[in-house]
Amino acid sequence: MNSCSPDVPPSRCLPATEPSIAEAAAVLRSGGLVAFPTETVYGLGADGLNPEAVARIYTAKGRPSNNPLILHVADIDGARALVASWPPEAQVLAERFWPGPLTMVLAAAPHIPEIVRAGNPTVALRCPAHPVALALIRATGRPLAAPSANRSQGISPSRAEHVVKSLGSRVDLVLDGGPTKAGVESTILDLSRRPFRVLRPGPLAPSLLEALVGPIEVWSGAVADGTVQAAPGMASRHYAPKAHLELLPRPSLLARSQEGGNRVVLVTFGTPLPGSGGGEQRLLPGNAEGAMAALYALLHDLDAAGVDRILMEIPPDGEAWMALRDRLRRAAAKA
Ligand code: TXA
Ligand code: MG
Repeated sequence: MNSCSPDVPPSRCLPATEPSIAEAAAVLRSGGLVAFPTETVYGLGADGLNPEAVARIYTAKGRPSNNPLILHVADIDGARALVASWPPEAQVLAERFWPGPLTMVLAAAPHIPEIVRAGNPTVALRCPAHPVALALIRATGRPLAAPSANRSQGISPSRAEHVVKSLGSRVDLVLDGGPTKAGVESTILDLSRRPFRVLRPGPLAPSLLEALVGPIEVWSGAVADGTVQAAPGMASRHYAPKAHLELLPRPSLLARSQEGGNRVVLVTFGTPLPGSGGGEQRLLPGNAEGAMAALYALLHDLDAAGVDRILMEIPPDGEAWMALRDRLRRAAAKA
């Protein structure tokens, strides 16, 4: 059975089972690319210690070579084998939040290929909370380099069919593990500098991390595409749908939707706009967790439906909504 989409050769997209995971591990060990589910988004995996395999990730995604990759490990021991030093705070955070949506940037061990680090002296590490991802890492016996399994700057995949749509035959095998739970990418914390710094907000709010390791900074900058980056890869436009996305205060949504003749969809959080004037409306959950989990699938759907403009309510303030505000700000940025 092919669970991804009717147009994909069945050999390329398989429901994640013990035999398909074993097959995927063999593909990875021979230098191929496998997309797999994590609790955040689907990853495009390669053997993280094989530079040629990792190079294929950059080609498949069209990813700039100055944007380093996360290595995925199955446990703390797997992470410790990849760093030059493992600070006590890393141990505390890993014990509390791994497996889970926390990526830690640490001083890299000398054997980490340069292409994984994009030349940086640091490496990003994460232990994903998904049984398929963990089984795959263990079966491969290597750390897996894995960015989100989409073309560079596109919307991250929260379902196997999003991967197939975005990458098609650029990936050797897709393991379908159903929709992902958290919906947005992991929180990235840089522990290679003081004070520690959140480079990308994610499902774990900074205050949860601070409670364990003391004050941390949240880096809110975004640099222009193609420049060497303090936090590489945090280019301003990212996660972007094909439709033009505009963020507006709730009271101006309706008026703005009357402008222009293109196909417009209004998106609000929690409660629909009363009397939308017959316009098309979509609703995201009114709680941050639910909205994060649903966001990418909604953007993929609207793209598939050929929508021209998305007018979305500015998400609420507050720490719980930080990751969502960050992704939407980037999705709405001009190319
Ligand atoms: O939830 C996630 O993190 C997903 C799943 C698949 O695990 N992965 C993911 O990978 O979002 P990617 O490549 O789309 O985003 C990784 C981010 C990039 O912004 C990259 O610049 C940053 O991590 N990064 C990787 N290594 C780094 C390093 N050594 N120093 C600073 N930032 C780093
Ligand atoms: Mg990505």
